[in-house]
Amino acid sequence: MIYGERIRFRHIEREDLPSFAQWINDPEVREGIGPYLPMSMPNQEKWFEEMLNRPLDEQWFALEVREGEGWQMIGNCGFFGADHRVRSMEVGIMIGDKGKWGQGYGTETMLLLNKVGFDTLNLHRIFLRVNENNPGAVRCYEKAGYVHELRQRQAALADGEYIDLLYMGILRDEWLRDKISQSN
Ligand SMILES: CC(C)(COP(=O)(O)OP(=O)(O)OC[C@H]1O[C@@H](n2cnc3c(N)ncnc32)[C@H](O)[C@@H]1OP(=O)(O)O)[C@@H](O)C(=O)NCCC(=O)NCCS
Repeated sequence: MIYGERIRFRHIEREDLPSFAQWINDPEVREGIGPYLPMSMPNQEKWFEEMLNRPLDEQWFALEVREGEGWQMIGNCGFFGADHRVRSMEVGIMIGDKGKWGQGYGTETMLLLNKVGFDTLNLHRIFLRVNENNPGAVRCYEKAGYVHELRQRQAALADGEYIDLLYMGILRDEWLRDKISQSN
């Protein structure tokens, strides 16, 4: 387990897949993420098997929050697309439980991913891609220290309209600087 203040990351188990399928099949959740069509359980199982074949640092986490005495899974998150020479990885997050949106869990998750990425995986930079029509996600990433790096014009499609794709990133030095300024 990797623990934050109100959250923890654990490895994904096969039993988690029905919840992932349910979330990805919710149009409101799916709108912000990569898969643009509903996914079946066999699709989920294929994704899971492929993930198990990837290096450990590219295997995603189940995201859990404290619920009474126990823990409740609300989504998943993780790293992918490692560039080992530059020590750069892309990061992704899905909070599938919509009842948990807007309570700071996304920001806390991104901050814990930063810690894992820089302190454990020894990355130099972490970046992400987000659709311009996802302001809640953009705000969450800004709060976690990510800066706007570039805007790819009309590189995504939403409801039949081309929209811009935003690239945001954080460097190890920026993360260290924020960490030091927060502890003072
Ligand atoms: C995007 C996501 C991770 C954000 O998680 P979250 O827990 O809701 O985020 P937080 O509560 O930490 O922060 C959200 C911030 O965005 C703000 N926000 C939400 N909706 C907004 C909107 N329409 N316009 C502007 N700001 C908005 C919130 O007010 C909050 O900022 P504040 O704390 O300054 O008030 C989560 O909603 C999610 O997983 N959505 C579905 C999948 C997805 O879109 N993933 C991202 C793919 S790039």
